[in-house]
Amino acid sequence: MNNIIIFDTTLRDGEQSPGASMNVKQKVQIALQLEKLGVDIIEAGFAAASDGDFDAISQISKELKNTKVCSLARAIEGDIKKASLSIRDAKQQRIHTFIATSPIHMEHKLKMSSDEVVKSAVRAVLYAKTFVDDVEFSLEDAGRSDMSFMKDITDAVISAGAKTINLPDTVGYRLPFEIYNMVQTMAKHINNHAIISLHNHNDLGLAVANSLSGIQAGARQVECTINGLGERAGNAALEEIVMALKVRKDHYDKFDTNINTKHISTTSKLVADITGIQPQPNKAIVGKNAFSHESGIHQDGVLKNIKTYEIMKPSDIGKQTNNTIVLGKLSGKAAFKDKIVSMGFDNLSEAEIKKSFDRFKLLCDKRKIVHDDDIRFIISDEKLNEDKLYELKSVQINNCTNGLATATISIIHEDKIYSDASIGDGAIDAVFKTIDRVTKQQGKLIDYQVRAVSEGKDALAKVVCKVKFNEAKFNIIGHGLNIDTVLASARAYLGALNSYLSMSNSSPRNKHQV
Ligand code: KIV
Ligand code: ZN
Repeated sequence: MNNIIIFDTTLRDGEQSPGASMNVKQKVQIALQLEKLGVDIIEAGFAAASDGDFDAISQISKELKNTKVCSLARAIEGDIKKASLSIRDAKQQRIHTFIATSPIHMEHKLKMSSDEVVKSAVRAVLYAKTFVDDVEFSLEDAGRSDMSFMKDITDAVISAGAKTINLPDTVGYRLPFEIYNMVQTMAKHINNHAIISLHNHNDLGLAVANSLSGIQAGARQVECTINGLGERAGNAALEEIVMALKVRKDHYDKFDTNINTKHISTTSKLVADITGIQPQPNKAIVGKNAFSHESGIHQDGVLKNIKTYEIMKPSDIGKQTNNTIVLGKLSGKAAFKDKIVSMGFDNLSEAEIKKSFDRFKLLCDKRKIVHDDDIRFIISDEKLNEDKLYELKSVQINNCTNGLATATISIIHEDKIYSDASIGDGAIDAVFKTIDRVTKQQGKLIDYQVRAVSEGKDALAKVVCKVKFNEAKFNIIGHGLNIDTVLASARAYLGALNSYLSMSNSSPRNKHQV
C-alpha cells in the first residue's frame, strides 16, 4: 500500500484567494483542525511575505503536536532564513523553496538565463539544508516548462539534497493525460531519488482530475486546499482528492491517505466561516446540496435504496443529516458539553464552553428548537470574536423613516462606556457610521453578506463584512451572529475593527504574493 502524502496549503496558497486573509489566531485554529483531519504536512505560510505570516507560522509551529510544518521561501537567502526561523519550534519541519522554470517566467519575470536559474535553485536548496533535513523544491510553472530543462534542474537540486520535487501546474493549463505523461517521464528520470509532488491550479476546472491522474503516474504527494481555495480559480480541493481515492478504492486500491474523512465537513465549515468564502452550493463533497435529492424520481429511489443515487454517505465526511437537537431550555451544561463534543468540538477550554453555553441559553429563551448549526455558529462566533478591545454594549435604532435611520450605540473600551449616535441610509449604514464615531476610526465597507444559518423566520443571522480601515492597504473580515440582523452587523463590523487593531503590529504590510 502506498501512502499519498497530503500536503495542505490552505494557509498559504489558500490565503492567496482574493479576500481570504486570516489573522494569526484564525490560522492557528485552522491548523489545529487540519491536524485533527490528519493532513501530513501543513504549509503554514510564506514567512518573508509579512510579519503576520511569520507570526502565524511560528505560532502554528508551537501548537501542532504531530503534523509537519512547512514554510515557503523563494530561492533567495533572506526568504530561506526567515522560513527557517518561522518553523524552528515545530516538532517536524520542512522548508519549501521554489523558482520558476518555464521560458516565459524565466525571461519576463525573473530575467534570468536557465543556467542562472539552476545555480539559484542549487544555492537555495544547499542553504535550506543548513537549517533542516527536509527540503522541498518546486519548479514553478512546471506545467509550461521544457522537459529536458526540468530533468536538468531536478538532477541538480536532488544532488543538493532536495527530498521532494514539486511540479506545479501554476496556471492550471494542463489536461489530465498531459500531467500523467509529465509525471511518468519525471518519475522514470528521478527513479525514486525524491518524492514527486503535484500542485495543480484549477483555472480549467481540472485541478483534482490532474492530481488523480498524476497519482496514477507516480506522484506520491499532492498539494491541495480545503474547499479548493487558492490563487485565482483556486487549487485542487483536498476533500475531493481524498474522497475520490476512498470512494473509488476499486481503482485506487494501492493508495491510502492518513485523512480521517469524518472531519472533512467540520474542517470545510471552519475554513468557510473564517475566510467568509462559502463553497458554491453544488460544490462536490462539501457544497450545501452535495447530498440533497430534489427530483421526485431521485427521492423515490433513495427511499427504496440509498445507493440508487448516493455514491457515498454524508456520515463519511462527518456531515450530520439530522440537524435538530433535543437540547433546550432545561438542558444543563453537561448535556451541552456532550453535544458539542459529539459535533467535533473537543478542544474547547471550560471558559469557552461557558461562553457558548450562556449564548445557547439566551437563544433557548427566544426559540423552541435549536439546531446543530446554531450551536456550531455560536461556538465559531465566540472564537472569531476573541479580540475584544472594543465590546458592544447596546444598539438602538430610531426614526427609520423613508430609508433614513438613526443609530445610538454604546461601546465598552478599557472599562469605560462610550456612546454616540449618527444618521445613515438605513439601519446598517447608521450602525457602521456610529461605530466609526465612537471608536474614532474610519472604515470603508468593501463587502457585506448576510445569511440565515438555519431554517425559519427566527433563524440566526450570520453577517460577514469586509472592511478597509483608515489607510490600511488590506481588508479585514469581521463576523457577527445574532437573531437580529442589525445586531449581527454591528458585531461583525466591530469584530473587523478589533481584528484590525490587534493586527496593526503584525499587519500584512509589504505583503508580496507568490
Ligand atoms: O502555484 C505555484 O506554482 C505555487 C508554488 C509556489 C508552489 O504556488
Ligand atoms: Zn500555487
